[in-house]
Amino acid sequence: MKKKLYDFGMVGLGVMGRNFLLNVADNGYSAIGLDKDEKQVLAFANEAAGKQATGTTDAKTFVNSLKTPRKIMMLVPAGKIVDYVIADLVEHLDPGDLLMDGGNSFFVDTDRRLADLKEKKILYLGVGVSGGAEGARLGPSIMPGGSKQAYNKVKKILAAVSAKVNDEPCVAYMGNGSAGNYVKMVHNGIEYAMMQLLAESYDILKHVGGLDNEALQKAYTKYNRGRLKSFLVEITASIFGQADELSKASLIDMILDKAKQKGTGKWTSQNAMDFGIPTPTIDAAVTMRGISSLKAERIKASNILAVKTTKTKIEQKKIVKIVGEALHFAFIVAYTQGLALLAEASKEKDYKLDLEATARIWRGGCIIRASLLEDIRSAYAEQPELANLMVDERFAKALKTSQKGLRSTLKLAIDAGIPTMAFSSALAYFDAYRQERLPLNLVQAQRDFFGSHTYERIDKAGSFHTEWK
Ligand code: 6PG
Repeated sequence: MKKKLYDFGMVGLGVMGRNFLLNVADNGYSAIGLDKDEKQVLAFANEAAGKQATGTTDAKTFVNSLKTPRKIMMLVPAGKIVDYVIADLVEHLDPGDLLMDGGNSFFVDTDRRLADLKEKKILYLGVGVSGGAEGARLGPSIMPGGSKQAYNKVKKILAAVSAKVNDEPCVAYMGNGSAGNYVKMVHNGIEYAMMQLLAESYDILKHVGGLDNEALQKAYTKYNRGRLKSFLVEITASIFGQADELSKASLIDMILDKAKQKGTGKWTSQNAMDFGIPTPTIDAAVTMRGISSLKAERIKASNILAVKTTKTKIEQKKIVKIVGEALHFAFIVAYTQGLALLAEASKEKDYKLDLEATARIWRGGCIIRASLLEDIRSAYAEQPELANLMVDERFAKALKTSQKGLRSTLKLAIDAGIPTMAFSSALAYFDAYRQERLPLNLVQAQRDFFGSHTYERIDKAGSFHTEWK
């Protein structure tokens, strides 16, 4: 009897891999999973009952059970594990087989793996997958990068499993090399910025506006009905309504204020620095995760440095309105910084990114999905070479209007001693970018004064040096 061969293989049957593979099976493709842990294989087999899907703990059986050329995705933690998995599989693979890394791998690692596997004639794609466990199961946003030939082999399957917006699949070929992982990294940088902005808005609404959790839930629900409509605002509203099972409090008030991170936000900031692209709101978000983790130091400092904050009596309706404007402004700025970085990375790394397609596939399935992305998509459709989203006519208008709300919000927060690292950085970025002249002529003068580093003049071409007195 002829052995049954499967259409698609998944390595790593943790919740992400398991859900993605169930999604593949639901779309009519037969699917096989590989995991070293038998418990995970059993869990998958249970959930996949009745579908054309199975699992194994053996790499050779797994590879030999796939139709050739094979299509295999790995959803395992980023880092060394990906290299171990590749080493494990590669001895059983044939030239022309395709391996995909669906984790949050560092793009430099993807470049290296691509080069190694090219020698072995194995096709390789670095695939950004966003949407968490639910997204993987019901439809994530998918950002594949690598060779177009490799992408064409899985284009149909990826389109079938991805989220849809107006019937359009949230997947598109991102570009050459590690483009997929790079775009996903920047997606996460924007995610960090939006999350930090929401955290700051919560601090202000709670401590300046005096909103309790019920009022907070109402405020974010209202935001989510308007132009701030987005996944992150929606879940923020739900969080304020969640009761704690272990105490009588709301769960939010029982969660320790130390935010962890796996690295994608930090990589975004580091790489933005390397490419000379300012992303201060993403940097601020990474910095705030760092400050949050200094809990013991903060407890000590709160005794030494504490300032008594006076609660401003401001009508709740008014503060909800201005904080909403502040969020609208700063969300636009967060996307602006991420997309400006992508535009530069596309040149530096020769990715040939299509920013319209990027905004399009971020409209659904991913963590930063938001109604704003439809306008962002249109902006890049009309001007593919747009240097900075803030100068697009519709966003310039939106920023000019919402800036008032952000300025008022910041004045209240600063007077109350509430940290606004992300909000402040968003406004400062806007104020700096729109200045024809900045005071950095002084920095040039100082550099030349102490280090003879020379300066340029506004009236003559060339480099100048002065013997400063
Ligand atoms: C996504 C998320 C996902 C993950 C983050 C969390 O797009 O589905 O971004 O990739 O939840 O990487 O990152 P931190 O642990 O660094 O917050």
